[in-house]
Amino acid sequence: MTPATAHSANQPDAKSKGSALHEIVAFVADSDTEAALEGLAAQQQAGPIHTARGTVRDAIRFIYKLSRSPRLLIVDISQAELPLSEIDALAEACEPSVSVVVLGERQDVGLFRELMRLGVADYLVKPILPDLIAPYLAGAHPRLSSHSNRTGKVVAIAGARGGVGVSTIATGIAWNLANRDNRRCVLIDLNPYGGGIGVQLGIEGGGLVDALENANNLDALFLERALTQHGPRLSVLTAEQPLDTDMPMADKAVEALIQTLERQFHYVIIDLPRLPGSLYAYILRRAGVRVLVADRTVPGVRDLTRMLGLMDDTAGRSILVLNDSRPQSEGLAERTMIEDTIGRPFDVRLAYDKAMSRVVDNLGEPLASVGGVFADGVRELTNVLSGQHGKRRKGWLQLVRGR
Ligand SMILES: Nc1ncnc2c1ncn2[C@@H]1O[C@H](COP(=O)(O)OP(=O)(O)O)[C@@H](O)[C@H]1O
Ligand SMILES: [Mg+2]
Repeated sequence: MTPATAHSANQPDAKSKGSALHEIVAFVADSDTEAALEGLAAQQQAGPIHTARGTVRDAIRFIYKLSRSPRLLIVDISQAELPLSEIDALAEACEPSVSVVVLGERQDVGLFRELMRLGVADYLVKPILPDLIAPYLAGAHPRLSSHSNRTGKVVAIAGARGGVGVSTIATGIAWNLANRDNRRCVLIDLNPYGGGIGVQLGIEGGGLVDALENANNLDALFLERALTQHGPRLSVLTAEQPLDTDMPMADKAVEALIQTLERQFHYVIIDLPRLPGSLYAYILRRAGVRVLVADRTVPGVRDLTRMLGLMDDTAGRSILVLNDSRPQSEGLAERTMIEDTIGRPFDVRLAYDKAMSRVVDNLGEPLASVGGVFADGVRELTNVLSGQHGKRRKGWLQLVRGR
């Protein structure tokens, strides 16, 4: 927070909409509260603030337009008919690290408790007392940390063998979550020598190695430099180390990186290279959701069985995907035969798409954005993964528990 930004609450452009970075966003019902917040934010040198008169729904619409969620979001439920469901919807709109302070008019312990359960940092009754709101504006209130333990979902995608479509599927899932579902995602290709993600999204190099070397002090600025943006909601982390360098990846560094990212993104999607070992097993077991991709070949089915064995007694979901990454040919097993062998059904089957090579040549254009049978399948897979089947989306609470 520099002194320059501290004044922005008093500047006319601080109230304008747009893609500017807002540390604090407040949508309140009355002009007194609005003025009080602006004054306090300036006093506290709290950083750029956007204030407006509006409802929780207005706040949601505003958040969706921002490329980065604010640090603090203040909303007013005094005119809300269904405050809890509106706050739950708001939780969907912002990433886990955002602190939300709710203002209202009712002294209501039940409501307070419910709001806390949804992950809200505090509920303050209007007129707001400067002493109560100021610590949130300054970003140093102990309540914030005790309530901001929400994390996004870690999704690991691994293949039963090389070339089964892991990178294509990972990119497609991330693209759908970011652009169709408006989720903030980070897509990590853990292959340090340049995996398929960089190729598909047209990224050369990337900040993965830097991020891992500094995994224990990844501040916002550092992360911003390490991540490559692919549209407003999809950040990508890749590496392209020279092929003659050894690149041991420390489990601890990877874990520290994941911990930082899962607090800032709704989804941390990991393309797990086929390098079996402790890190490989660790990430598969740690992920809240695993997407295991196999084809119909004998080695594919055999490896899928072994991977499932690794997951015995592990928390989290395993989604099994049968991807027909090659045209049908002799010697490929029937789906039911494979399911009998592995002892459970596939969750999703992705059809062979012969138009694919044409699209993949078109670097930087993820398949999911183009269409076709494969893209349709990836959309369905994304729904299975996010639990979205036309049903209500998950709230904060499920997000915390769902890991
Ligand atoms: N269902 C499919 N239909 C057609 N081609 C596919 C399909 N799935 C994957 N491919 C192609 O297979 C190749 C390998 O995919 P990739 O995602 O790089 O695999 P992996 O990351 O598992 O090595 C790519 O050229 C991709 O376009
Ligand atoms: Mg790959």
